[in-house]
Amino acid sequence: MAGFSRALVLLCFFFSFSEARDHLVGGKADAWKIPSSESDSLNQWAEKSRFLIGDSLVWKHDGNKDSVLQVTKKDYVTCNNSSPIEAYNGNTKVKLERPGPFYFISGVEGHCENGQKLIVVVMSEKHRRFMTISPAPSPVEFEGTAIAPASGAASLKGSLMVASGVLIGVVWM
Ligand SMILES: *[C@@H]1O[C@H](CO)[C@@H](O)[C@H](O)[C@H]1NC(C)=O
Repeated sequence: MAGFSRALVLLCFFFSFSEARDHLVGGKADAWKIPSSESDSLNQWAEKSRFLIGDSLVWKHDGNKDSVLQVTKKDYVTCNNSSPIEAYNGNTKVKLERPGPFYFISGVEGHCENGQKLIVVVMSEKHRRFMTISPAPSPVEFEGTAIAPASGAASLKGSLMVASGVLIGVVWM
C-alpha cells in the first residue's frame, strides 16, 4: 500500500514537469536591449532554453523605452517594423500556442539592426514527450530504450506511464 501511494506521488511529480512554464526573455528583466556582444545575444539565450506548446514568453522591461514586435520571418530578417503581427509594450506575456518559430524584434528604430531580435522555436508534441521525462533525477538513460516509438497525444500518456513505471522500479531497487 505504501508502495502504491509512493508511486502516485512519483507520477504526480512527473506530470508536474509537463506544466506550462513562463520564460523571462533573456533571463532577466532588463535583457530586452541591444546585446553588448554576440554571446550576450537573445538568440544565444533562446538556444539554451526549451520552449513547449503552452509555455509563455515574458518581458519585464520599461514599456516607455522599448517595445516588442512579433513579426514574420521576412520582417525579422530585414528588421522591418512597419507591419508587425502583434505589438507589445513592457510587462508583456505572450503565450506560445503552436509549434514552430516565433520572430520578435524591437520596435525602436535601429535596435533590431543592432541585434535586438529573437527567434523562439516551439517544440512539437513529439519532443514534449521526451522533455517531460528527461528532467527526472535518475541516472538511467531513457532515450531510445524504455520508450517505444509512438505518435500522437493518445500514446503520450501510455509512454509516460511506461516510463514512470520503469523509473519507479529503478528508484525502488
Ligand atoms: C516593410 O514592410 C512593408 C509592409 O510589408 C512594406 O510595404 C515595406 O516596403 C517594407 N519596407 C522595407 C524597407 O522593406
